[in-house]
Amino acid sequence: MGKRTLIIGHRGAAGEAPENTLASFRTAVTQGADAVELDIHLSADGEIVVCHDPTVDRTTDGAGSIALLTVAELKGLDAGSWFDPRYASEKLPLLEEVLALVPAGIMINIEVKCRYSIRLEKRLRQLLATYRRQDGVVVSSFDHKALARLKQAAPSLRIGLLYAADFRRHSLIATSFGSEVYSLHPDHRWLGDEDIADAMRAGLRVYPYTVNGKAEWDALIAAEVSGIITDYPGRLRAVRDRAL
Ligand code: G3P
Ligand code: MG
Repeated sequence: MGKRTLIIGHRGAAGEAPENTLASFRTAVTQGADAVELDIHLSADGEIVVCHDPTVDRTTDGAGSIALLTVAELKGLDAGSWFDPRYASEKLPLLEEVLALVPAGIMINIEVKCRYSIRLEKRLRQLLATYRRQDGVVVSSFDHKALARLKQAAPSLRIGLLYAADFRRHSLIATSFGSEVYSLHPDHRWLGDEDIADAMRAGLRVYPYTVNGKAEWDALIAAEVSGIITDYPGRLRAVRDRAL
């Protein structure tokens, strides 16, 4: 593990472009992110769609549950105007489109937001195989049971445990997971330097979310954390590169 802290663009570059759109992922890549984070759901017709919420209400001009809408219906929505009218042509991307867009050297953190299903598992594995993305991907979720089932089905998949709680020893949640864990994704507010050092000593990467302030970036970079999930990858890049 190197000492360089990875810059992970949250929902692309959610502070600068409409979250989880191709424009947002393009912005993150252009601004020098080392990785992008995105959220996934399954459409009614079994396609993996990139969106944070289970409904399209907040981030598009439509309404309804992604799970009840087809790709054709989802693709008819405007996913950019809510952020800024100049993004009116943005659509909800399919995971496949993001895999095709993001260069191979940029890691993709796929956060599973929907419930686990065989349909999801099969489509995810199919896409990762088609785009040869097994190595450059880490699949995370707050749903650790879903992650365990994915890992069982695809043992080479890199798994990241997301959590929003404080633990006496963060590294122990990986120990109790039952199969190999690649990374911990803690809420940064409950993460101390000792937790980072302990988890990294145990061979885990530590990718805290969602960190947008300079003071917090400075502290995490000084602690040599593995990566930082941020809405502002460009700003973090400037701060990190000055610290190197
Ligand atoms: O994956 C880190 C972060 O995205 C988790 O929270 O709600 O922004 O998906 P949320
Ligand atoms: Mg997320």
